[in-house]
Amino acid sequence: MACPVSNTVELNPTLLPLDWLLGTWECDEPGEGCFPTIKPFRYTETLHFSHVGQPVINFMFNAFHAESKKPLHRECGFIRMQPGTNRVAFIIAQNSGLVEIEEGELAGEQLSLQSQQLARISFAKQPHVKQICRVFQLRPDGKLEQTVSMATDNQPLMQHLHITYRRS
Ligand code: HEM
Repeated sequence: MACPVSNTVELNPTLLPLDWLLGTWECDEPGEGCFPTIKPFRYTETLHFSHVGQPVINFMFNAFHAESKKPLHRECGFIRMQPGTNRVAFIIAQNSGLVEIEEGELAGEQLSLQSQQLARISFAKQPHVKQICRVFQLRPDGKLEQTVSMATDNQPLMQHLHITYRRS
């Protein structure tokens, strides 16, 4: 059911620089996942960005295995922008048991974020993530790209994911 508030409420002006993110995005073609310690894989993903008039964007990312269609990685959280600046913060919970705060900057329609704080449940699977960097880029053709790099206990910072979405 559509949110009765977000259908009627104007976007908080603090978030106008991020209005291009709002809505639902479906991957254009399967994304590519890799890391030196795992078998390369392909995945599909849907992103939802919404608001209820607060100076906050609410988001949900749901990823699936491209071939088996099984649900895999899921994240949800909130995006805040520091008023009058280009500083952006993501507050994120992941289904793997990881929670994180990422902060970064908006430059035009490119959003670059780095993890500031990571915490996990006591029985999270190893290896543990040490650092996350991600970039969202709205391309001139209207497609959105996301690239995620990570460092773990035993690997330096390296690309884990790359995917392109179209607005649905
Ligand atoms: C593996 C972290 C997003 C699919 C891994 C591993 C880590 C990790 C630490 C284990 C690497 C190793 O064994 O050395 C993350 C983080 C993410 C993220 C921090 C988001 C910021 C995703 C997404 C997908 C995905 C969106 C899409 C389906 C996989 C798969 C593996 C994997 C299939 C290999 C099998 C497994 O270990 O489950 N990821 N991941 N990950 N990730 Fe991600």
